[in-house]
Amino acid sequence: MTKKYKRTLVTSALPYANGPVHIGHMAGVYIPADIYVRYLRLRGQDVLFIGGSDEHGVPITIRAKKEGVTPQDVVDKYHSIIKKSFEDFGISFDIYSRTSSDIHKKTASDFFKKLYEKGEFEEKTNEQYYDEEAKMFLADRYIMGECPRCGNPNAYGDQCESCGSSLSPTDLKNPRSTISGSAPVMRETKHWYLPLDKHESWLRQWILEDHKEWKTNVYGQCKSWLDTGLHPRAVSRDLDWGVPIPLPDAEGKVLYVWFDAPIGYISNTIELLPDSWEKWWKSEDSKLVHFIGKDNIVFHCIVFPAMLKADGSYILPDNVPANEFLNLEGDKISTSRNWAVWLHEYLEDFPGKQDILRYVLTANAPETKDNDFTWKDFQARNNNELVAIFGNFVNRSLVLTQKYFDNKVPQLNELTDYDKETIKEFVNVKGLIESYLENYRFRDALKEAMNLARIGNKYLADTEPWKLAKTDMERVSTILNLSLQITANLSIAFEPFMPNSTSKIREFLSIDPIDWERLGQTDLLAAGHQLGKSELLFEKIEDDVIEKQIQKLLDTKKANEENNTEIKVAPQKANIQFDEFGKVDIRVGTILECQKVPKTDKLLQFLIDDGIKKRTIISGIAAYYNPEDLVGKQVCFIANLEARKLRGILSEGMILSAENADGSLALIQPIKEVNPGSQVG
Ligand code: MF3
Ligand code: ZN
Repeated sequence: MTKKYKRTLVTSALPYANGPVHIGHMAGVYIPADIYVRYLRLRGQDVLFIGGSDEHGVPITIRAKKEGVTPQDVVDKYHSIIKKSFEDFGISFDIYSRTSSDIHKKTASDFFKKLYEKGEFEEKTNEQYYDEEAKMFLADRYIMGECPRCGNPNAYGDQCESCGSSLSPTDLKNPRSTISGSAPVMRETKHWYLPLDKHESWLRQWILEDHKEWKTNVYGQCKSWLDTGLHPRAVSRDLDWGVPIPLPDAEGKVLYVWFDAPIGYISNTIELLPDSWEKWWKSEDSKLVHFIGKDNIVFHCIVFPAMLKADGSYILPDNVPANEFLNLEGDKISTSRNWAVWLHEYLEDFPGKQDILRYVLTANAPETKDNDFTWKDFQARNNNELVAIFGNFVNRSLVLTQKYFDNKVPQLNELTDYDKETIKEFVNVKGLIESYLENYRFRDALKEAMNLARIGNKYLADTEPWKLAKTDMERVSTILNLSLQITANLSIAFEPFMPNSTSKIREFLSIDPIDWERLGQTDLLAAGHQLGKSELLFEKIEDDVIEKQIQKLLDTKKANEENNTEIKVAPQKANIQFDEFGKVDIRVGTILECQKVPKTDKLLQFLIDDGIKKRTIISGIAAYYNPEDLVGKQVCFIANLEARKLRGILSEGMILSAENADGSLALIQPIKEVNPGSQVG
């Protein structure tokens, strides 16, 4: 549906203030959102860009406990780090505030109250784990116990990190509270639920019928949620960190973080525009767009719209252009494993190179599928695209003008057919960039802008003005005039993507910002205009700089492996019946002879006394034992495993061994000697 709007309200997901921001956040959410709003502003549209930190939720309280500080200390620290990173990278929020602000607490609290009074919630009482020592209900992450799947004794109430199963607290065996260590008890607690099931039918119509234009990844995820069927969702939690539930009998209860955080978009608008915020949120001619990552889709497309609808006075998003995930050198980015490129660290290593990262993360944005960031690709895009094409073109145009025309824009004389063809090639650029940006296709839009630089670069390479300088200055004058016009066009086209670089170009050209509407024109600079001082627009990034970054990641990997003292346990296999186990004939045998199988590293050949006869068994255990040490020892083996040939030797059974997580093996031996041929069972 294309609607006529008067203004655009853009929000970007509020990052959790329990860690700094990394390239994944930037590529997925903040850079595309920033490109979009910069573009709309350039077109003179009325636009508001809202950001802020998400400062509630259980992970923040856990981090605080671990570090021995208060949750407020944690969010204060990371809020300022995150805010500074966004400023450094030119993310041009109109406001960047936080959900621990008083305005937010009041806004979220009032929002809940209105829905409560309208009867939009269901109240339900159920049983939940309670820590009698700490006198608190336990969030899933505050409960640990034995995983029912793999036996890991340190599984969390929501997930076992050993086997990856997702759990609920009541699945755990021998649960314990991570706060006091005591065994929690079940206790009744009341919560308020948003009955999403009651919103299902209008949501189906609104998303599946009225918003078929949403990105396929977003539309698909919504469809799958809707097709599975929606259920009531609790909007309250028993916790002492968050916005208190504003009801008399709700002591110790706060709003669930996913209820309060999106209201943060509204609170931050109110903080910025206390008198005029409502026209942004409540008037049908406002266009609301949420930029988010794919893990936030259900909250922004289903839960928050249901909240807004339940209130009744708000508009709903026109679009939710969620991105997929960015990986780093082939692995999932992870804050806890420190597998990330942190923005504040990038800036220490690449001072002044914000635009390079903005370029690479846009060119490689995970718009339709997960993508990988690699340092080699970063280097290649800088050296082969920004330096070799964009920078090279701008630099040559400027340097030649200095050399031949005293740094003044030369005359445009008669155009050749080739000049006209070149101009024709880029008149479409404006329309293309616009339509890509308006459809949230930032990679394609950037490609078009880059295409303009390619056209310029090719034009100079083909016309070779440095060769004509001796014979035909009139022609050189035209070529350089056109080249400078293209350079001025680049300062417009790249403005939403690389705002520092475009302001540099304007300095080189000694001009003020040019209207977006003039993109594609060839009379942006008047003949005779005096240019400014110029330098290289982009610098080559050398191999050693990139290798340092790669080494840093390798060091992280190594440190993670060393710290990873948690022993990995394989998941338990599916249950079997007793008679299935009975089919396996396990026995004890005594080793009579043992030797290496020639020309192999792994295999030992055993001769075993199995009580009836002597049998030969081959086992892949040579790396862990000397054959001569084993003679006379007893081992367990499967007696009725079909015999098979290994290296030309018939192996009659299998010797049992236990395998450590690192793959090392230990033979299984009865604790005291038994008769050869004794059955194990
Ligand atoms: N903090 C959440 C995350 O990082 C995003 C919250 S978005 C908002 O996944 F809508 F809740 F603000
Ligand atoms: Zn497990």
